[in-house]
Amino acid sequence: MTTLVTGGTGYIGAHVVSQLIARGDDVVVVDDVITGDAARIGEVPLVRTDLASADARGVVERVIRDHGVDRVIHFAARKQVGESVERPVWYVQQNVGGLVHLLEAMEATGVEQLVFSSSAAVYGLSDDTGLISEDAPTRPINPYGESKLAGEWLIAAQARAGRLRATSLRYFNVAGCGEVRLADKLALNLVPMVIERLLRDDAPRVFGADYPTPDGTCIRDYVHVVDLAEAHLLALDHLATGESLSPVYNVGTGLGTSVLEIIDAVRTASGRDLTPVIEHRRPGDPPQLVADVRRIRRELGWEATRNVADMASSAWQAMAQRAGAVSRAQLQGHSEC
Ligand code: WQD
Repeated sequence: MTTLVTGGTGYIGAHVVSQLIARGDDVVVVDDVITGDAARIGEVPLVRTDLASADARGVVERVIRDHGVDRVIHFAARKQVGESVERPVWYVQQNVGGLVHLLEAMEATGVEQLVFSSSAAVYGLSDDTGLISEDAPTRPINPYGESKLAGEWLIAAQARAGRLRATSLRYFNVAGCGEVRLADKLALNLVPMVIERLLRDDAPRVFGADYPTPDGTCIRDYVHVVDLAEAHLLALDHLATGESLSPVYNVGTGLGTSVLEIIDAVRTASGRDLTPVIEHRRPGDPPQLVADVRRIRRELGWEATRNVADMASSAWQAMAQRAGAVSRAQLQGHSEC
């Protein structure tokens, strides 16, 4: 079995590549390596191309034929919400356009198995304070979320037409890392942002402490990237056995953690003093987003096994080591970052 991983040099994609290689699978990566990092995948074959470019379909067809690709995991996409609000047409061109080229190449070569990287951003501002199931209304509030939902629709339609066997994984808030070289380098989300400020001796910021939650700060469902990567391998294996999967699965823990609790976890992991500053609410933040994870547990047998403390410590060790704030000696005993 050879798996094509698009976007395999990114933070999540590279964790999946690492797990596939570790179990002996053949992998080829297609990536423009703009936000990714080729060092994350070592010797794994890498074809540098922007999937949304005019010649991408032909490039992917060639990759599929040359490498004997049997199935695909599609990560390659732009993922910055603010950027998507500023450049909506470009987001559709990149995220939906890239997917169209991939699906065309898969259809032309008869490759039918696909796992798609989707996002809880498809739910938008959930007015539900309970757990969000896959059947909850999908009302994305930015072009990024819209592009992911459009991708899900396209894939589901292609599957209904009998041209694809596929599933989309809706990630909640992904954090942590499995190895230092795989760590998230963009620092666009809470855990890396808190650590980045800590490393600069800046106080972490809390965007709003007046939400209707127990400590007043927003609650999210944080899932460890290593657990998330395992969910992709399971989905892939289920597709390979010919089983039909649900079109979408939430990937989270089913547990809510507040911003202050995340800052506490980083405080414990780093052993440093941390006093956050409370700032105004950030526009568009729902008070609570927590996944109902019963479907993926029931149908794929997947369950997260790592907690917020694991996410904070692995992210801290990777970022601190990279910044030179913690020596290798101090990190001895940690086989993972
Ligand atoms: C988490 C909580 C912030 C930084 C985003 C995207 C979503 C998905 C995941 C890709 C919020 C608060 C943050 C800080 C803070 N992306 N916060 N201080 O907004 O839940 O989800 O990333 O698929 O589409 O919207 O994640 O990590 O930005 O924020 O208080 O310095 O932390 O307000 O409540 P979010 P986040």
